[in-house]
Amino acid sequence: MQPKFKIMSNRTFTMIKPDATTKGYTGAILDQIIKAGFKVKAMKWIQLSEEQAGLFYDVHRARPFFQELVDFMISGPIVAAILEKENAVADFRELIGATNPAQAAEGTIRKLYAASIGENAVHGSDSDENATIEGDFFFTKLERF
Ligand code: CMP
Repeated sequence: MQPKFKIMSNRTFTMIKPDATTKGYTGAILDQIIKAGFKVKAMKWIQLSEEQAGLFYDVHRARPFFQELVDFMISGPIVAAILEKENAVADFRELIGATNPAQAAEGTIRKLYAASIGENAVHGSDSDENATIEGDFFFTKLERF
């Protein structure tokens, strides 16, 4: 029997992308995330290799924008983090706004800091399952609490 209510995850995964880190938006974005009630459970500042970026976005490998996406994601450092909050995946996607900043709501992170659909400042997991997969991609058990 299906459960009556879907069990909500309390964790999501994010990256602050190279456009935002290189423009100096990292602190402001983290501040907005924390003020929205998310707790940082793991965090690292790293530069991805081409292979790592390709693996992370493997699901998009057949898309026409795949190579552009990989080239962008390795163009500068990123901040990867696991965040905790009740209803984390959905609430974080609301906080960051639509993938295309032109369609993002006022006050969202992408509306404030992103330039285009390709260079859109932040990533947020789209499901509980992907939040787990993406967090596991970046962090060992010893690197989170
Ligand atoms: P993200 O949420 O990190 O997940 C996949 C990414 O692919 C997305 O953000 C965008 O940055 C990128 N993306 C999606 N659609 C396009 C597109 N049409 N052109 C370029 N990049 C895209």
